[in-house]
Amino acid sequence: MTKSATIAVVGSINLDLVASVKSFPQPGETVTNATVVRCPGGKGANQALAAHRLGAQVFMVGCVGNDPLAGEALQALTSEGVNLDYCCSIDDAPTGLAMIVVNALGENQIVVAPGANAAFGPGQLSMPPADAVIAQLEVPINTVLKAASANPGFFCLNAAPARTVPMELLDQVDLLVVNEIEAQTLGPDLAVYGGLLATTYGSKGALLSRNGQQIACGKPPKVDVVDTTGAGDAFTAALTVGLVSGLSPEQALRRACVAGALTATRMGAQSSPTSAELERLDVV
Ligand code: RIB
Repeated sequence: MTKSATIAVVGSINLDLVASVKSFPQPGETVTNATVVRCPGGKGANQALAAHRLGAQVFMVGCVGNDPLAGEALQALTSEGVNLDYCCSIDDAPTGLAMIVVNALGENQIVVAPGANAAFGPGQLSMPPADAVIAQLEVPINTVLKAASANPGFFCLNAAPARTVPMELLDQVDLLVVNEIEAQTLGPDLAVYGGLLATTYGSKGALLSRNGQQIACGKPPKVDVVDTTGAGDAFTAALTVGLVSGLSPEQALRRACVAGALTATRMGAQSSPTSAELERLDVV
């Protein structure tokens, strides 16, 4: 890649409680064969770490509670050296917590108790200078709006989890990343959106388009899937880092597909690859 990008990731920080089971329980059913691990998570934190591992200089911008879960939720960001100077701690809300069930196919079901992420209002937001901002929809939309307006650089919105997005925000987006469900939720607004659109289709790959015209098509490598949690986060981070660092749309999309696929081969939402791993696979 031609240059090292500086990226501010504005979003959620969670502690994930991950239960692995053979199959998901039906409503009313109790499954008793689970094993449980605690891992750092949150779409914002996952994307920040993924971008950092791919060589970007990353600022995490988000909120945790003033409680013992905060240190666990921030553990990987801290130990790997992501800049946390723009993160804050909120006294009257707990650190975000996600309850995740992963089945034998690596599929997941996620319930989030947002805690401090929901209390992260525009008043708490302070933005570092950056070439690009990445945001998702696990913090209040007004905070995302302020982050988009505060930074003149490239703005990527990963519209996850699925919810509608005000036109005022969509108008500021340079790269929108959605899966099929999120695309459906945005509905007709997608037809008037004029920026780059990355649509992901899980193991089938992803498309990059603008105004309905396909620009690039990416296929992930075949991998043994263990846990798909965080694969979309790694994809979003890798695509943004690639585009901002001067890769072509084809190269950036290919790199994003591989990053997402490798993340799915390991447990936990913060299992994205390093640039060295991608290079070993001959990915630019
Ligand atoms: O995208 C995966 C993430 O969604 C998990 O880490 C969980 O915390 C939820 O935010």
